[in-house]
Amino acid sequence: MVWKTLDDMDLDGKVVLTRVDINVPVEDGNVTDATRVERIVPTVRDILAKGGKPVLLAHFDRPKGKVVPSMSLRVVLPTLEAALGQTVAFADDCVGPAAAEAIAALPSGGVLLLENTRFHGGEEKNDPAFAAEMAKLGDVYCNDAFSAAHRAHASTEGIARLLPSCAGRLMQAELTALEKALGQPERPVVAVVGGAKVSTKLELLGNLIERVDTLVIGGGMANTFLAAKGIDVGKSLCEHDLADTAREIMAKAEAGTCEILLPLDVVVAREFKANAPHETVAVDACPPDAMILDAGPETVVKIVAAFRASKTLVWNGPLGAFEIEPFNEATNDAAREAAALSKGGRLLAVAGGGDTVAALNAAGAADDFTYVSTAGGAFLEWLEGKTLPGVAALDQS
Ligand code: 3PG
Ligand code: MG
Repeated sequence: MVWKTLDDMDLDGKVVLTRVDINVPVEDGNVTDATRVERIVPTVRDILAKGGKPVLLAHFDRPKGKVVPSMSLRVVLPTLEAALGQTVAFADDCVGPAAAEAIAALPSGGVLLLENTRFHGGEEKNDPAFAAEMAKLGDVYCNDAFSAAHRAHASTEGIARLLPSCAGRLMQAELTALEKALGQPERPVVAVVGGAKVSTKLELLGNLIERVDTLVIGGGMANTFLAAKGIDVGKSLCEHDLADTAREIMAKAEAGTCEILLPLDVVVAREFKANAPHETVAVDACPPDAMILDAGPETVVKIVAAFRASKTLVWNGPLGAFEIEPFNEATNDAAREAAALSKGGRLLAVAGGGDTVAALNAAGAADDFTYVSTAGGAFLEWLEGKTLPGVAALDQS
């Protein structure tokens, strides 16, 4: 760990501007998944324990530089208070007099949440003047928003250059887990990459084939690889225009030391619908009028064997159309096996990315993974081997 953490900082009596990611899903005014809110609690508690005043900076949704009342962070306040077990003050702006007055009024032991940073155009532009307006409100900057660290915004990047800065506990946990999974992993390493499209994961695949020993490709994107090998995938979701790219990736893997594992058998149906009539066939036997919606049981046996032979697993994306039954079976079975190995201490299993967490939760497997990232896009960019601007800007220890 090369970045400063809360342990390196003197916070007594200091205002600690703490960037968090509480960009949680909300339906009808209710937070439907509080995970991101719950995961910042250790950071807030540790700042309080060190005598600091946590002042939370966060974005919510994409208001694009304007005040959009339906995108106010107030909606998250009750969830935050429940998670922290204390009341949280709120200011209607993240800069200017409203913020300054709320900070001045914050008692020792209190926590303050400032309104959506993206209500200001300077946030996403990483405008230095806007970063300076935020910075002048506090003494120390703590970034606990790993899942927003792929954004070079004023509250994630610019401000870190203006104040003594450090990583929060969640940021630390994410970076530590990711470093163990891909930075300095125990080998062999197996990666599972699934999801609908190859086009969104090209860089990720390119990076992984150089770093992992086995790469399991699943979901709709596997069809693109199968078709590139000359296999008829019928009416399956498939990016035929990426056949050359898929062949290049396979050739590179073959020339190196990475084994790519594609489906051996597949579950096919005529409609994309829950409980649509379906059958399991060999991978080269998809009927012309059917589509592949999941990997079959033989494939799962191969995947599980790869897990058993590995020390480290990185998982991003489902193996099939996990949102409709029974096409979630390969994902569920493989995820549960990974969870059991991880729980038994035989596999370090790290997962992340939007759909992934939903799929692992649905499988009841997430709790037993070594680490499940709170990040979507940031996790992907990290898998691509990119430097995340919000991490790079933090002070080194
Ligand atoms: C996320 O939800 O992935 C992060 O909060 C970043 O949000 P954004 O994709 O709107 O930048
Ligand atoms: Mg996002």
